[in-house]
Amino acid sequence: MVNKNDRVTFGSKLGVILATVGCAVGLGNIWRFPYMTGANGGAAFLLLYVICILLLGLPVMITEFFIGRHSRRNAAGAFKAMAPGTKWSIIGYNGVLAAFLILGFYSVVAGWTLEYITEAFSSSLSGKSAVEFANDFTAFSSSIVRPVVWTVIFVVLTHFIVVSGVDKGIERASKWMMPVLFLMLVVLCIRSVTLPGAEKGLAFLFKPDFSKIDSSVVLSAMGQAFFSLSIGMGCLITYSSYFGEKTNLQATALQVTILDSLVAILAGVMIFPAVFSFGIEPTAGPELVFITLPNVFNQLPLGNVWSIIFFLLLGLAALTSTISLHEVATAYVHEEYNMTRKRAGAFVSLEILILGVISSLSMGILKEYTVFGLTFFELLDYVTTKIMLPFSGMLICIFVSKRVDKSILKEELTNKGTVPFYFFNTYAFFTKYIAPVAIGLIFLHELGLITLIKNMF
Ligand code: PHE
Repeated sequence: MVNKNDRVTFGSKLGVILATVGCAVGLGNIWRFPYMTGANGGAAFLLLYVICILLLGLPVMITEFFIGRHSRRNAAGAFKAMAPGTKWSIIGYNGVLAAFLILGFYSVVAGWTLEYITEAFSSSLSGKSAVEFANDFTAFSSSIVRPVVWTVIFVVLTHFIVVSGVDKGIERASKWMMPVLFLMLVVLCIRSVTLPGAEKGLAFLFKPDFSKIDSSVVLSAMGQAFFSLSIGMGCLITYSSYFGEKTNLQATALQVTILDSLVAILAGVMIFPAVFSFGIEPTAGPELVFITLPNVFNQLPLGNVWSIIFFLLLGLAALTSTISLHEVATAYVHEEYNMTRKRAGAFVSLEILILGVISSLSMGILKEYTVFGLTFFELLDYVTTKIMLPFSGMLICIFVSKRVDKSILKEELTNKGTVPFYFFNTYAFFTKYIAPVAIGLIFLHELGLITLIKNMF
């Protein structure tokens, strides 16, 4: 077991926030959020998503920060340390497993950003119609060699950064990248909303049609909230275990949540006006962002340069997330199995490579092999975002409410009384009742149990 005090901590206050934002902001905001919103009816989904962020996301995030900094262990070790000899460490194992599975599909999409960077370099993204962009994407993503090679490159890149140590790699990368990505999003939003027919896209994103809401939309919104905030899987437990004593946990959680949601909404504003303007189907699925954005770049002077910078930054945003996911698994294997960090990292990377290759191929030659009608790629996404993360989130809330003395919770969250937590009681109430009950009800509803009970009476 690695000594508690040997663990490095983040160097600066800004470093803490940026690294955590780096973990939260990624493909989930810019790739998955628009595609989910498009597939689930637009504004109604956005509304449910925001509700999930506030009601469930924020309390769970604060709670994860508490667990991580209080225990100063990896995702699984934290529960072992706080509740020795109990089964609560299952939350940690679930998180470690989720990290592997998420990386299995996330690295494929991250690989796609690399393809787009090289395509932009060879200027092959310019002068095409919306239909051509869409066809090109399908041809690329369903092919055998290129997407697999990009996936492998992305995993290897993540691997080297993770084994080189948390403080150097993560902090340095996040510092300059996030602000630049943010600025670019703003400019692209402006270009998108000034396209002809953009109003339809804005209406789709902001004018809710409540008839679109059903239980699967609610489950999707909850899953997206968990995925985007990186909660329910121990990532933030692992990260906050590196936080310093003075880090204000509640304020950090609030800042990360706001920034993360803002980036997602900006991504929506960047995508939907363009989707409608170029006659793309909002329900296109995982390819939505990749077939929409090249059209927007085409409308800008120096479109290829925009394209290169944007996909480079998106790739880097994905990288800060894959680093954190990899870190969850590596920290676990390293600390719990007494392996060197290097060996643990190599072990983790190998598993991810296997999953990543299969899920990339499931876009093409393995497409016919499905489970419950889902391809391997879709299955990894469904199981992690819609089941494992919210389920863990629910258990995390129950764990803290049941096992942790309220005074200890308050002491940690207020840094021993040195920072105020005005809404502590509200937070505790949400964590104890609202979040676990709401998540539980959504699950029961999705499983059809509530309808079953209703029909019985
Ligand atoms: N939140 C990240 C994103 O939006 C994905 C992620 C999920 C990262 C879970 C870590 C843990 O891209």
